[in-house]
Amino acid sequence: MQIILLFLMILLVFALLRSWVTSRAMGGIPGSMGWPIIGESLSFISEFSSPHGIYNFMKKRQLRYGKVFKSSILGRSTVFMTGTEASKILLSGKDGMVSLNLFYAGKQLMGPTSLLQTTGEAHKQLRRLIAEPLSIDSMKKYLQFINNLAIDTLDQWTGRKAIYVHDEVSTFTLKVISNILMSLEPCGEEQEQFRANFKLISAAFASLPLCIPGTCFYRGIKARDRIYSLLDGIITQRKEGSNIQLDFLQSLIKKHSKETATENGEDKLTDTQLKDNILTLLIAGHDTTTAALTWLIKFLEENPTILGKLREEHIKIQEGRNGSSTLSWPEVSKMTYTSKVINETLRKATILPWYSRKAAQDFEINGYKIKKGWSLNLDVVSIHHDQKLFPDSQKFDPSRFDEPLPPYNFLGFGSGQRMCPGNNLAKLEISVFIHHLVCKYRWRHLERDDSVQATLVRMPKNKYPIIVEKL
Ligand code: HEM
Repeated sequence: MQIILLFLMILLVFALLRSWVTSRAMGGIPGSMGWPIIGESLSFISEFSSPHGIYNFMKKRQLRYGKVFKSSILGRSTVFMTGTEASKILLSGKDGMVSLNLFYAGKQLMGPTSLLQTTGEAHKQLRRLIAEPLSIDSMKKYLQFINNLAIDTLDQWTGRKAIYVHDEVSTFTLKVISNILMSLEPCGEEQEQFRANFKLISAAFASLPLCIPGTCFYRGIKARDRIYSLLDGIITQRKEGSNIQLDFLQSLIKKHSKETATENGEDKLTDTQLKDNILTLLIAGHDTTTAALTWLIKFLEENPTILGKLREEHIKIQEGRNGSSTLSWPEVSKMTYTSKVINETLRKATILPWYSRKAAQDFEINGYKIKKGWSLNLDVVSIHHDQKLFPDSQKFDPSRFDEPLPPYNFLGFGSGQRMCPGNNLAKLEISVFIHHLVCKYRWRHLERDDSVQATLVRMPKNKYPIIVEKL
């Protein structure tokens, strides 16, 4: 016990020293570092949970200091930036100016070869490899699975006293992504165990990274190891040629094989790379899609005219198919209004309110000198609620997307080298689910509460409870 306490004290002193050195170096940047140790974390967290999220936190400081200001949040001295110039610099990452900046817990959980931890050529190579199996074309083969699962999920929503949309949608999106990535069956013991382990890993992301038995972080690491064992078994079977499936993992293993790998072996991924990156896609793809679909259903209920217009689009598609419940690919391509509704949801909810980077070299922005190694955050929420770009920004109005927007104004899936590689899958899942929801059901909320859960991905705090009836 004494050794642990000593270790914790050394960690604390080290963190304080580092923070003190960085905050002194940031002297030329306007802003406040708040209280010793806690910095401005308390006001940041309390604003995060409010309906407008960190928008008010940002707004207050931008009015006082301008578009670039420093702060100290969750033990990290950091510079916040907003606007088109900052987006361009931080997201295009030109000339290796910035790299992704993960918290220590995320780094340990996702493994060293995760897409989120690689930079430069290694990152580009991984992106090339996953681009094809996540492309629009590859999504066609998953359509029927997603369609049937959406129908089954929604069938169970009627006749119940309360549906907690967030929980239900979370189960749906986890079944979809685990099947697409590694053909896990949507029901049964294996799915249940996988789900339990996945929950522990997700919780560990926002925990103190103390790998000591009994801590949340320790449970997350152990759960990660169990998922890796499951993957080890699947990868071995696939390499031996048994249990071949048409999924994401198979397409990477195929690239691995002697017949298809390039001469210099650049398409070959080690088993560690396969496991780290399957986990990365699960983590990056699950909570985000769950949050987006939950907010979308909530925004539709709050905006009956938009729901009516969306329903019209889907009823028309349904009528064209003479009563069958099976969606076809050409029908998905007709969902143009749906696509605008998804974009507007991502803008209004801004489920990832800031994107974190680390300066990989010294550079200048808005006349301020940024030093190599500093933590930088692009404040996306202020871009998505800039009255000049999105007038009456609190209004849910999909017609904002009638015309294409200039680059870097809408960042729902990010932009540049780190732009979301899972956006086709996310849009497909949401479109199919919404199709069956609006064609067959009506719903109303059971409790009005606009506050937001204090997790990295913004979600309604009350999980959006509703009651559902058939139309
Ligand atoms: C509506 C759902 C989703 C939203 C809103 C979303 C949003 C984003 C955003 C904004 C980024 C860029 C962050 C940054 O620049 O720092 C990103 C990156 C990423 N997303 Fe998504 N995402 C969604 C779904 C998915 C899905 C389904 C997957 C997996 C199949 C996925 C995998 C990833 C990965 C791996 C990255 C990191 C890319 C890299 O570092 O090169 N996302 N996502």
